[in-house]
Amino acid sequence: MRKLTYETVFTEYLPDEIPAEYVELIEEAKRQTQKAYAIYSNFQVGAALLLENGKIIGGNNQENAASPSGICAERTAVFYANSQYPDVPIKAIAIAAYTNSDFISSPISPCGSCRQVLLETENRYGKDIQLILYGKKRIYVLNKVRQLLPFSFDGNSLERK
Ligand code: THU
Repeated sequence: MRKLTYETVFTEYLPDEIPAEYVELIEEAKRQTQKAYAIYSNFQVGAALLLENGKIIGGNNQENAASPSGICAERTAVFYANSQYPDVPIKAIAIAAYTNSDFISSPISPCGSCRQVLLETENRYGKDIQLILYGKKRIYVLNKVRQLLPFSFDGNSLERK
């Protein structure tokens, strides 16, 4: 018998430490929150993707009275990018959230379904997707989706006997 562990490594930046290379993507994620359709939760989430071809793709949460029919910001953006640029890997995703007239202080992290979709995209292109999680007081950066979903069900699982 042996015990195994997974370790998640991430970097915390304070507002005055944010590397310049993240600023544009964070600003787009923040802008995206303002276009969310979140009348039920009043929690507006924005996502911005940086594609390997340099394009920036935005998305936000789209809610519905029949709540399971709604979708998170991350999947709105990722599915759009994968549908329109099927051959272009995603390099990074920034995520921001706005509620009660302000951006949240501490970052949110993608829900389980979004992690699953992001991980499949990471695996599909064989290219790590950096996660930039924005909060007004601190920003977290993880270098790959695998860090958020280490014990995953993926395409390899389907081939196991
Ligand atoms: N939501 C996102 O869009 N992304 C996340 O990472 C977490 C949650 C949305 C779903 C729902 O519209 C609202 O936030 C409240 O859960």
